[in-house]
Amino acid sequence: MFYSDEFVEQVRSENDIVDIISGYVSLKKKGSNWMGCCPFHHEKTPSFSVNKEKQMYHCFGCGVGGNVFTFLMEYESYSFPEAIEYLAEKVHLPLPARELSEKEKKEADYKFALKELNKEAANYFYLLLKSQRGDTARAYFEQRGLSEETIKKFGLGYSDVYNNDLYLYLKKKGYKDDLLKDSALVTINEKGGMDKFWNRVMFPILDLQGKVIGFGGRVLGDGEPKYLNSAETKIFDKSRNLYGMYVAKSSRREGYILCEGYMDVISMHQYGFDNAVASLGTAFSVRQAMLLKRYTEQVYLAYDSDGAGVKAALRAIPILKEVGIKARIINMRPYKDPDEFMKNLGPEEFEQRIKKAESSMMFEVRVLAEKYDFTDPENKTAFYHAVAKKLATIPEPLERRSYIQAVSGQYELPEKDLENLVNSYGQVVQREEIQNQIKEVQAEERANQKADKSEDAYKLLLTWYINQPVLFNKLKDLISPEDFLEPFFYHLAQNLFSQYDEKSEVNPAAILNQYTQIEEQRKAADIFQTTLKLEPEAKDNDKALTDIVRKVKLSSIEHELANTEDWNRCQQLIQQKKEILRLNLVLNP
Ligand code: UTP
Ligand code: MN
Repeated sequence: MFYSDEFVEQVRSENDIVDIISGYVSLKKKGSNWMGCCPFHHEKTPSFSVNKEKQMYHCFGCGVGGNVFTFLMEYESYSFPEAIEYLAEKVHLPLPARELSEKEKKEADYKFALKELNKEAANYFYLLLKSQRGDTARAYFEQRGLSEETIKKFGLGYSDVYNNDLYLYLKKKGYKDDLLKDSALVTINEKGGMDKFWNRVMFPILDLQGKVIGFGGRVLGDGEPKYLNSAETKIFDKSRNLYGMYVAKSSRREGYILCEGYMDVISMHQYGFDNAVASLGTAFSVRQAMLLKRYTEQVYLAYDSDGAGVKAALRAIPILKEVGIKARIINMRPYKDPDEFMKNLGPEEFEQRIKKAESSMMFEVRVLAEKYDFTDPENKTAFYHAVAKKLATIPEPLERRSYIQAVSGQYELPEKDLENLVNSYGQVVQREEIQNQIKEVQAEERANQKADKSEDAYKLLLTWYINQPVLFNKLKDLISPEDFLEPFFYHLAQNLFSQYDEKSEVNPAAILNQYTQIEEQRKAADIFQTTLKLEPEAKDNDKALTDIVRKVKLSSIEHELANTEDWNRCQQLIQQKKEILRLNLVLNP
């Protein structure tokens, strides 16, 4: 982190959360809380509450919550340092000099700096577009029918005809050669720096938080290559992002529209289809499908209607299916792509095409049929076999039946015969390769999340502490931060315990300052906001408490047992284990 804990806490405590949030949400006082309509989900009756005393907010509707920093990070998409800087300025606190610390933080700061640099570049391209030097580029966008508003919304820009324009600009802004090189926006040799993009219209690529992580650049008119894309960097991974996703993820439309190109996405958004996304100059990936699956189960493919587009669709369909997304294919004919379609037939007609979109199975069968000559009996039989094999991949019997019915109707094939043929193939399992990729990604995610199950236990135990502060003393000799085997919870416990030691109270808002990432803030805030439901019978509560303490302690003991070679320590641990198994805690003796 750039700023010291003391400074962060000072900024937080000098800004009143009720004042800050009132700037965004109209709040009314109700008892000890201030209530309003949640800005993070759609609602008519207020369930968003701000607590002045705790300096925290929480929505009972959608579950968001946190301190004043969390709010700005969620609402304004600020990074943690940005939220600090914004609030420091509000209360006229001068910013202390930024200082770098440990290696881990360095990595985060490095990524942050790369994003800043990309943002700076995007601003520059945008300003160039707006300036006189951007005349031709502006004319190009105009000729392609893009409105001022669209250009602004997507932050489109222009890279100048000089081949070191951006380099010199960023140098002047104080960026060092090393970082510039790592951004992949320039190459540097003995002669100096050279821009990757010049004389192109620029499409900034945003991550899910709305930060610029790379660019696509198109030639003005004809020329090769038509598009150049940023190389992958520490912040830009093409297979993990989708063009347009930052906007599309808050769309209210049903499903997502997956297009091939930047211009398609932009055109679709301009005509009101703000759920359009595209992959980034590479083939649609399993990771991208898994990303979409977090938001939807329905994807409409709006790929080009030429041979390459059909091929790309045939590649994307099994990937979508495998992650559990239903795919339908939009027929764009007689136009080549969504951009052309929109300009010629308009959004109403496109809406109709969405309604009439073909299921991916019927699309695949149709493409298959085109390869066969139905006037030749041998060819026709070959088609029957191919289609039966395809239908045999449908695992669900009812679904398989209805497709057999549909196909036999459409291709004049006796239903019974087709069914027999399908059955003769048995259950054809395809897509092993995709499944393997999914497994890989999942394994990686699991590794990142560590042991999820123990997380639940840690969360519950800390919730007990917060709801029943007597436990800080009661469990003093039993539980220590070291019993929390997951780094996040270890630190959280450490903070909580030491805060209680010093002040005999818990100040959740101050603890949240420790976390620089929004995910971590959410995770911590979640714990502070959970209210334990106590049972009417005291002994039930005692049992629940005993269970959770036992669970955490036992797993900690097991862990140490597995990792120690000290025989004496082993004996101690085994003894401890016996005691824990006999443990009977009483909350209110
Ligand atoms: P298209 O050629 O269909 O581009 O390629 P487009 O977006 O429709 O562009 P316009 O309408 O001609 O301006 C689809 C996508 O493939 C990638 C880009 O991401 C493009 O948007 N592509 C294409 C490249 O990365 N490099 C190329 O040279 C061409
Ligand atoms: Mn196109």
